[in-house]
Amino acid sequence: MAAILELTGVCAHYGRIQALRDVSLHVDEGEIVTIIGANGAGKSTTLMTICGIVMASAGDVRYMGESIRDTRADLLPERGLCQVPEGRRIFPRLTVRENLDMGAFFRRDVDEIEADLGMVFRLFPVLFERRKQHGGTLSGGEQQMLAIARALMSRPKMLLLDEPSLGLSPMISQHIFRIIKNVNEERGMTILLVEQNANIALRLADRAYVLETGTVVMEDSAERMRENTDIKKAYLGQ
Ligand SMILES: Nc1ncnc2c1ncn2[C@@H]1O[C@H](COP(=O)(O)OP(=O)(O)OP(=O)(O)O)[C@@H](O)[C@H]1O
Ligand SMILES: [Mg+2]
Repeated sequence: MAAILELTGVCAHYGRIQALRDVSLHVDEGEIVTIIGANGAGKSTTLMTICGIVMASAGDVRYMGESIRDTRADLLPERGLCQVPEGRRIFPRLTVRENLDMGAFFRRDVDEIEADLGMVFRLFPVLFERRKQHGGTLSGGEQQMLAIARALMSRPKMLLLDEPSLGLSPMISQHIFRIIKNVNEERGMTILLVEQNANIALRLADRAYVLETGTVVMEDSAERMRENTDIKKAYLGQ
């Protein structure tokens, strides 16, 4: 299968601190791929480098066969690449409905936007109930749902998710993971998932990468990774 996203030899720095060292990874069309790793391993930096929020100091990032290393972050959603960053970042002073409209800001297909709005309200009924409420007054879990729903409103080919379950109750986390699986299976959306809960991530994903201090130290199918003794000890609490 063709890679929709490919990183080759990517390095990234914050000042003199090197956060990524020669990271190579790929995500094929239709896959769910997860990156697991300890706090500070460079997972968020990897996603931000893909999106052009952090500039790669070496290496290349290719999306659908073209380098996006020098592409501005705000131009990527209309090319079908959308990130849900760590910590949600919804617009607190806009209503739920306005937040969702922002996700579709570059689209002109009004009828399709309306259909997608119906779709996200079906996936997240609570957002329909709260559609007139300001984003900032939503609970943490609701804000996370809104962040994901807003990303879906851009009708992405590929979704980058940074810790979607952070700080959420097990029940809301499960709801969010079901939706991730659902948009992958029903809409063919390709997903790169960073997740603190490696148990869940490895059950959801097709393949996985392990990142340690900015370096990819392992790459395998999620199934084999779940059975790996070192992974069990280090990341699955077994
Ligand atoms: N803005 C920044 N300035 C300086 N150093 C940074 C900055 N952001 C991240 N770092 C450093 O880069 C490294 C990688 O951080 P990153 O946020 O990518 O880790 P992470 O794997 O996402 O961790 P977590 O699981 O805690 O979210 C860390 O050592 C971190 O301290
Ligand atoms: Mg992070």
